[in-house]
Amino acid sequence: MNSVGIIGAGQMGAGIAQVSAAAGYRVFLADVSLEVAEKAKADIGKRLSRLVEKEKMEAKAAETALGRIEPVGSFEPMASAGLIIEAATEREEVKRTIFGEVGKVLGHKTVLASNTSSIPITRLAQASPDPERFIGVHFFNPVPVMDLIEVIKGLATSTETVETVRGYGKALGKQMVFANDAPGFIVNRILLPMLNEACFALGEGVASIEDIDTACRLGLNHPMGPLTLADFIGLDTCLEITRVLHETTGDPKYRPAPLLVKYVEAGWYGRKSGRGFYDYSGDSPKPTR
Ligand code: CAA
Repeated sequence: MNSVGIIGAGQMGAGIAQVSAAAGYRVFLADVSLEVAEKAKADIGKRLSRLVEKEKMEAKAAETALGRIEPVGSFEPMASAGLIIEAATEREEVKRTIFGEVGKVLGHKTVLASNTSSIPITRLAQASPDPERFIGVHFFNPVPVMDLIEVIKGLATSTETVETVRGYGKALGKQMVFANDAPGFIVNRILLPMLNEACFALGEGVASIEDIDTACRLGLNHPMGPLTLADFIGLDTCLEITRVLHETTGDPKYRPAPLLVKYVEAGWYGRKSGRGFYDYSGDSPKPTR
């Protein structure tokens, strides 16, 4: 396999494109339009330049990696790819539409993967042309920094499909873990209840935003406190995953914290919208309550 297709050029898709190109793969990068994919390539170029400035990458290697990324305005060029990873917005109908469209050009051996953080892989596979060649490949943000890929097998996923992804993850130098198709897989099943609980604690007045974060940073040695991390992931995404855990298990222990729901209803999505538990408009984030 020497080329990959990436659908969705946002934070996750662009990160996956960057690490794939740096590992030597030719990358076809698509989004809602060619212009969006081209803009994402330009941003990847800036991030690679920063790595060169910090002497983490040779200038020539950065230039070669960037040259391997080809923004595309349709899925046709991806027909030759060994692996196509969908990293579009976390909405099932959006993903289903993409799988239907990309299915029309999918090569006979191409593996189709989703970077979904919580939608069941077996269910998504039904929108793809071949559930045996469908799999979950879950990266973590920021993709170039985080060493993990969570690989999720759907009910019909073949061993050959798992092996294709294993080879790809190995080439990227990532550590892989393998999970069955259960709600939240491994990481989000454990992480989201913690972030949700931090929202309950804040809503109940247990402590301030800063003290909840400081407590977990220093008391648990986490790199970010839970409210900072929730803002970093996106409060809308946190709520979406929590709702999937709640609805698919029916277990009330996963019910979303009212404060999290309220913030999302207010459009306070965290870092990406400029405000969540912190306000990001100044030089450094300030707690909002
Ligand atoms: N893209 C690329 N590189 C980045 C980056 C980004 N967005 N943000 C930070 N980095 C790099 C920096 O360049 C720096 O690299 P060097 O050490 O080579 O100079 C390194 O990461 C450390 O960055 P900083 O010194 O600026 O800041 P930090 O020490 O506070 O680390 C962090 C930042 C790596 C993001 C760290 O705070 C961290 O690990 N936080 C937790 C992140 C996490 O839990 N991610 C998973 C979220 S869950 C998820 O993604 C899945 C899901 O489905 C919801």
